[in-house]
Amino acid sequence: MNPVETTRPGAAVLEKPYRLAMCRPEEAENVALAVEALAPAEMLSPAEREAASKLKTPKRLRDWAAGRLAAKRLLGWRLQQAGLYLKPGDISVLNDEGGAPYAELPNGAVIGSGTLSLTHCAGWGAAAVCEPWALVGVDLETVAPRAASFLELMAHDSEWAPWMTSDPVEQTRLWTLKEAVSKLLRTGLSVGFHDIRLVLHGEERTLELHGAALERWRALGAPPIHFDSRPEEDRILTVAYAAGARSDR
Ligand SMILES: CC(C)(COP(=O)(O)OP(=O)(O)OC[C@H]1O[C@@H](n2cnc3c(N)ncnc32)[C@H](O)[C@@H]1OP(=O)(O)O)[C@@H](O)C(=O)NCCC(=O)NCCS
Repeated sequence: MNPVETTRPGAAVLEKPYRLAMCRPEEAENVALAVEALAPAEMLSPAEREAASKLKTPKRLRDWAAGRLAAKRLLGWRLQQAGLYLKPGDISVLNDEGGAPYAELPNGAVIGSGTLSLTHCAGWGAAAVCEPWALVGVDLETVAPRAASFLELMAHDSEWAPWMTSDPVEQTRLWTLKEAVSKLLRTGLSVGFHDIRLVLHGEERTLELHGAALERWRALGAPPIHFDSRPEEDRILTVAYAAGARSDR
């Protein structure tokens, strides 16, 4: 299988086709407490309240709420640009059968299919929304040394160098790059860890897609994928984005 080369992480791209929003843990806590008390949670739509009632653990509820609040902040902004003023509770952020997020408006309009991406980590939520002609995937992870057994599974030899063993920032960054691409492609768990490779050349990386990830990328019209990756306190926030042909839409 031929590898696919796209823009290296950190390479400058003049115009960003996406916007990001974050949600702090305490904001999500208020929504989670209302759901747990069966009290009206104004930020949530009826469909979201139903989805929230099925979440199995308090942690999952708080993560879920943080992602939704970040997404609603962005979507509210996007819709206002189009002259549509909606309350957060009018917007439903739901998941398709593969887990990918989309937003439904009261008039039945849907925003999604790769233009909305969510992540949550340690109570924080982040969302990215991109232009309709683009694709986006976002991932947020706490910097922490990963177990050797996990690193061996996750990283292909071409993504690894001995110095990374003592570099939890780079270990975490690599993981967020992979996850952000898997969200942009909307493959989630259906691709193997090595189907998305960030091949190391010195201190730079280039994206290579293989197997199911390569097939999916081709089906999307093979758009070049770009990255923004930055530290956020003790976390790494990575966005993968692409603009171009999308033959599936
Ligand atoms: C989506 C995934 C890639 C990341 O999940 P995660 O890092 O555990 O959790 P995050 O908080 O960063 O992201 C979760 C969000 O991803 C989104 N998501 C789930 N499946 C998705 C998919 N197929 N496509 C796009 N986004 C998806 C959802 O919005 C979800 O949040 P929600 O359920 O509250 O709406 C998940 O498939 C996963 O757990 N993968 C495990 C590792 C893996 O196989 N990675 C592949 C790349 S190497």
